[in-house]
Amino acid sequence: MDVVRATSYDSLLSRRAKLQAPAARGARGAGAASAPLYMFGGGFPDPASFPYNELVEATREAFDAEGPDVLGYGHQLGYLGLRELVCEKTKYYEGFEISVDNVLVTNGSSHALAMASDLLIDIGDTIITEAPTFSGTLNTFRRYGPQMIGVSTDQEGIRTDEVEERLKELARQGKKAKLIYTIVNFQNPAGMTQSLRRRTELLDLAEKYDTMILEDDAYGELRYSGEPVKSLFGLDQNGRVLRSGTLSKILAAGVRLGWILAPKNLLPTIAQFKTDGGTNPYMSRVATYYLRRHMHAHVEELRGIYRTKRDTMLECLRVGLGDSAEISRPDGGFFIWIRLPEGTNPQKLMELATERRVSYVPGPSFFPYGDNGFDHIRLAYSWANLDEIRTGVGLLCEAIKAAR
Ligand SMILES: Cc1ncc(COP(=O)(O)O)c(C=O)c1O
Repeated sequence: MDVVRATSYDSLLSRRAKLQAPAARGARGAGAASAPLYMFGGGFPDPASFPYNELVEATREAFDAEGPDVLGYGHQLGYLGLRELVCEKTKYYEGFEISVDNVLVTNGSSHALAMASDLLIDIGDTIITEAPTFSGTLNTFRRYGPQMIGVSTDQEGIRTDEVEERLKELARQGKKAKLIYTIVNFQNPAGMTQSLRRRTELLDLAEKYDTMILEDDAYGELRYSGEPVKSLFGLDQNGRVLRSGTLSKILAAGVRLGWILAPKNLLPTIAQFKTDGGTNPYMSRVATYYLRRHMHAHVEELRGIYRTKRDTMLECLRVGLGDSAEISRPDGGFFIWIRLPEGTNPQKLMELATERRVSYVPGPSFFPYGDNGFDHIRLAYSWANLDEIRTGVGLLCEAIKAAR
């Protein structure tokens, strides 16, 4: 219904509702151009990989096995079968043991990250993030009103020397950081995997300066080269780590299922925020029945698909840009991070790419205050098919050369 008179809600809104997200600076889309044909923007999973028939079979199997429970309200911590599956998956892919008492099922890992924020962040608190880092989580954090300190990264991941500097500075002011947010594998957007040395250092710092680590691992299973590194949650001896995971990238983003792992004595405090009748009991069962039969084979298949896409995009970029640009080569995940050739005008590039119907994400989106990264862009190779990658990257390289 259209209201007759626009009421001012100002005196009613919560402090959090009134928080203004700082407008990300940097190049914006060029307006009303046609929709992109070459979508290298969002980290969307490959649509050709979705297992439609197997999900229908899993739905029937779940109904046959569990009848009305499939459609009832769920447990506060999530469907037990899925929590058990997360334990098995963690052992298989990460090599460490957890119990169901460490696992709470969420609506994708975005929700897990929001729950960690519910648990730890009050308006005005300080948190530390990598810079650059995933724009979606930055948007989540902004809704909690923290001061965000961005710490730079290099080939080994977050710069722990810089983290310590910031923590010391805060301690001198009688403050502390509530959490350190880090994407450990195939970092979004920069692509590197955090080294074991940095992980150990980060854990030591969390203990020394009394803070928590929020470990985001949305892509860990999707490794195409190199050796896995043990998770911060698996290495932690002091209950300093919360870890988010997701089915978005190894099954489908539309199932909206993820989880948060937490120390057993902290999980009940997080669960207090779950007052909604359980996360998606229906889809949790469908996904669990599907994954019990198909998880390993499907992950293997996805690794093949994305490895080929990564290599194709890298080759096209190499042909198109030579060594005029710095191009990351991630061992897994969905993204390539490009430092544009010296002198590229980011606004002009956005206009020229939009004209050619190519989308990407400009660098400033990945910085806490949008005030850095103007010379970078992020490309996702996950969604587009190989022909679109070849043609789209060709067009993008043309645009990059013209955007001086
Ligand atoms: C690093 C990272 N974390 C978390 C997410 C959130 O994904 P979802 O909420 O679908 O699990 C994404 C999605 O792109 C991501 O790239």
